[in-house]
Amino acid sequence: MFAIAIDGPAGAGKSTIAKAVAKELSIIYVDTGALYRAVGYYALSKDKDTTNVEDITALLSEIKVELSYDENNVQSVLLNGENVSDKIRTPEMSMAASNVSAIPSVRKFLFDTQQNIAKTNSVIMDGRDIASVVLPNAEVKIFLTASPEDRARRRYTELIEKGMKVEYDDILEDVKKRDYNDSHREIAPLKPTDESIIVDTTGFELEDAIDTVMNVIINNLSIGG
Ligand code: DC
Repeated sequence: MFAIAIDGPAGAGKSTIAKAVAKELSIIYVDTGALYRAVGYYALSKDKDTTNVEDITALLSEIKVELSYDENNVQSVLLNGENVSDKIRTPEMSMAASNVSAIPSVRKFLFDTQQNIAKTNSVIMDGRDIASVVLPNAEVKIFLTASPEDRARRRYTELIEKGMKVEYDDILEDVKKRDYNDSHREIAPLKPTDESIIVDTTGFELEDAIDTVMNVIINNLSIGG
């Protein structure tokens, strides 16, 4: 068994690339952002301020979040038994997730769920603190990044393709705000570890980005070793 950690800012292509790698290596892709999004979703459904530490901490005892995988290893996130995988993909949920993820009790709450999956499966796990906190012994640690403009453009295209009405400038502003939030919080801020291999995909076509990451993994992974 082995683990690959892939951290980086929003919209760097982590999920698309990690999915492709998972398929190629026949391992599970774990999207940890979905867990934070599920907590954010629950908080918003209860009309809570997602930055309020006491309110959000109090909510945690009402929440059960689980990840499940179908026969094709496609992940679903269950919030108190309900599959919320699609509902958590809006810009509003992105910001709610970023807010609740700065709260230490929330990070602690979601820690075991993330670690347990890697105890029984080979995984490629994406997030912000996978290499530093969740899987410090991961065989390969990648920090995937790209310019804010590139990342906003990809997010924008993704959301438009899903039929959402969004403006590029709003997405860019969101990306920058989330970058700031995620990298300036006190707990587990977004940053590469000393062991992380930094891959900057600015200006890359998707295929090139996947190839680059795949090569980094193959060069650094001694499967079975
Ligand atoms: O990867 P994502 O965009 O779905 O993540 C949503 C938010 O959750 C992101 O702004 C920061 C937070 N997050 C985190 O703090 N730690 C993780 N391992 C994954 C996500």
